[in-house]
Amino acid sequence: MKKVLFVCLGNICRSPLAEAIFNHHTRSLEIQADSAGTAAYHVGEQPDPRSIQVAQSNGVPIQHKARQFRAQDFETFDYVIAMDHSNYQSMKAIAPGEVENLYMLREFDPEGNGEMDVPDPYYGGDDGFVLIYEMISRSMDHLVAHIQSSQT
Ligand code: 4NP
Repeated sequence: MKKVLFVCLGNICRSPLAEAIFNHHTRSLEIQADSAGTAAYHVGEQPDPRSIQVAQSNGVPIQHKARQFRAQDFETFDYVIAMDHSNYQSMKAIAPGEVENLYMLREFDPEGNGEMDVPDPYYGGDDGFVLIYEMISRSMDHLVAHIQSSQT
């Protein structure tokens, strides 16, 4: 069973949505996703209602309780996937030396055009949540193909 961890800042908007979309997308495969945040502000909370809304309106079940990312996650998970550069740098800063399993989600976005961040939607409107839903969904096929191609 391959394990994937999606990581954002608060673990209530972007990464629980990515976890939910990924788990729905791969429900027939031996791959499991979880999510975490680099900050502890929202530990123990459910996903933001706007992430729940956009997931449910697309038929994607979403269930998560926020927790903070820890260095040990680099060992527990085969793939650690940051939503933006800031999340990437925060994780790198506490990594136990060089890590080879740290990625950015939009490396796998076929329409990314070099843009690497899934923007933080927390202080914006509902349209920001539709936008991040689309970015995350678009990245799924290439991400899963990458994971499967490295399976032995
Ligand atoms: P997330 O969004 O990192 O996608 O979960 C945020 C949630 C909360 C805050 C910032 C971003 N905050 O500052 O509380």
